[in-house]
Amino acid sequence: MRHLLDTRTLAKDEALLILDTAEDMAATQQREVKKLPTLRGKTVVNLFYEDSTRTRISFEAAAKRLSADVINFSAKGSSVSKGESLKDTAQTLQAIGADGVVIRHPASGAPSRLASSGWIDAGVLNAGDGTHEHPTQALLDAFTMRRRLFGEASRGRDLNGISVVIVGDLAHSRVARSNLWLLTTLGANVTFVAPETLQPYGSREWPVTVRHSLDEAIREDQPDVVMMLRIQSERMHAAYFPNEREYARNWGLDDVRLGSLPEHALIMHPGPMNRGLEISSAAADSERSTVLEQVANGVSVRMAALYLLLSGEKEVAS
Ligand code: CP
Repeated sequence: MRHLLDTRTLAKDEALLILDTAEDMAATQQREVKKLPTLRGKTVVNLFYEDSTRTRISFEAAAKRLSADVINFSAKGSSVSKGESLKDTAQTLQAIGADGVVIRHPASGAPSRLASSGWIDAGVLNAGDGTHEHPTQALLDAFTMRRRLFGEASRGRDLNGISVVIVGDLAHSRVARSNLWLLTTLGANVTFVAPETLQPYGSREWPVTVRHSLDEAIREDQPDVVMMLRIQSERMHAAYFPNEREYARNWGLDDVRLGSLPEHALIMHPGPMNRGLEISSAAADSERSTVLEQVANGVSVRMAALYLLLSGEKEVAS
């Protein structure tokens, strides 16, 4: 297979290949000249039907550092607003000779549809689809955990036995789902913490410990990593919790909870953050926070994914 659509079907050796290739990419980014010739002559299209800051700019930076030509397409201001379908948009990309399509779409399954449709020959990379998956976010999160927890000894390592507590709006979170599948494949123990209204449907059948109390999770699971997730108000069409103050008091990583974490525990957030709601500024800006490292590592991980999928030199997924 030539696409990166999810982490649920990503095998452990495939995931480790991406993470180890990202280590190689990160090493090249320490050089004075950061650009590699690897994808010279290839065209990568960033096809974004939803807003993005981090994912879009890091895919753009990654493709450019591999010398690909990059076309940025945003649904806003395009013929999508005149009713053009995904099929017609895809065929337009085929006509201009896209080799890779990075797609973010509000509909779960849109990247998979694009990859299996036969409308385009390009490799498809899922940059977040609905509430389904955001595979490169999970890969950059795992990359960040490995580097912070194992340092120089990261290469080739899985995350066996690591305790990861993921907290927040899990119901609407493609980041939570992609992390769960990838972290489980890499051997980590995952706990989901949220009020019952924000637990994903079906999570009791997944390989995850489900809790409602963040204090209980900190006490019982002794996390190596606490990953805070954004409250996605734009996807909420009902009241999922009484009010923001109550949410912050019960499920926010505030200064008191920050002090109760194991000393070595990492604080992660995929961004964008709601400071004062799911995370305090003291936690977000603390030495243990990896928020900006996650963004920087995203470039290396996306370079690895683009290289492995588009260079034709290695197969990454089947
Ligand atoms: N983490 C993430 O996907 O951020 P953006 O929505 O800014 O891309």
